[in-house]
Amino acid sequence: MVQAFLDRGFNVVPVVPSIADRAVRAVPELPGSRVLITLLDAKNLAVVPDQSERGEARRRGRAARPPRGYRAWRTRLAETERELGIDWPAHAETMSGLRRLDNVQECLVDVLTRGVAGDAIEAGVWRGGTSIFMRAILAAYGDRDRRVWAADSFQGLPKPDPVKYPADARVDYTRFPELSVGLQQVRANFARYGLLDDRVEFLPGWFRDTLASAPIDRLSLIRLDGDLYESTIDALDALYLKLTPGGYCIIDDYGAIDACRRAVDDFRRAHGIEDAMIPVDWTGVYWQRC
Ligand SMILES: C[S@@+](CC[C@H](N)C(=O)[O-])C[C@H]1O[C@@H](n2cnc3c(N)ncnc32)[C@H](O)[C@@H]1O
Repeated sequence: MVQAFLDRGFNVVPVVPSIADRAVRAVPELPGSRVLITLLDAKNLAVVPDQSERGEARRRGRAARPPRGYRAWRTRLAETERELGIDWPAHAETMSGLRRLDNVQECLVDVLTRGVAGDAIEAGVWRGGTSIFMRAILAAYGDRDRRVWAADSFQGLPKPDPVKYPADARVDYTRFPELSVGLQQVRANFARYGLLDDRVEFLPGWFRDTLASAPIDRLSLIRLDGDLYESTIDALDALYLKLTPGGYCIIDDYGAIDACRRAVDDFRRAHGIEDAMIPVDWTGVYWQRC
């Protein structure tokens, strides 16, 4: 079903607010496309035009010869996508986008400047880019003590368990092989920047098995990017009490993924957390633990 759309210059992507005005209801040259799109919607997937040159060409049904101004438009679009982190980039080490990376930098520099004790952790690292950036910031500021913890299955997201976590019933990301990046690849990405050293600690495995027992003393920055309710609540349960007052908790998917938002809201409610939640961009939020 998906191939039929790809062949006609469209992509099938998870439903997130940012694609709302790009999603199409029908592909005229594909008979029955309305029904197929409804079926995909039931799986929380949407059909959007593939904005690459190949996609354009396929939609136009002719060899790619970009119209005037196309390349400049395409470049601007790519810059916007990367700034806001709305795509899954083919090659970049992170899908986070510049605004969310700036937020990581601001939070980490702030805890360094104010001497808020503790390491930094990212739960859900994918190709490692944001964790690499954290390690780079520590190096750039001459920090000699703190570690960066990189927690991931290194084999993609877990299969949703809708019985235990009903909020995850509609978010099955196991169908996207591109979300699975092995530990060796992530280590190689750190090494490529000269940042693979003994101050980077990997926690391979499911969050439910690794985070609570990890030998982490204190944290000054927690960054959660595991998408699911299960992944978010497991990480908050295991890590939040280690967050030093004055440190930061960053949630990548609060705006984009309903399941993640519910986990955060449930956790904050259950623990009486009223620290102001501040938006980073269309999806990321953070708060400072008082
Ligand atoms: C959206 S990607 C993270 C993107 C990354 N932070 C970046 O900067 O590009 C989600 C990652 O979380 C991991 N993940 C999600 N839930 C997990 C869980 N419960 N246990 C272990 N890893 C998990 C996946 O393997 C995947 O690498």
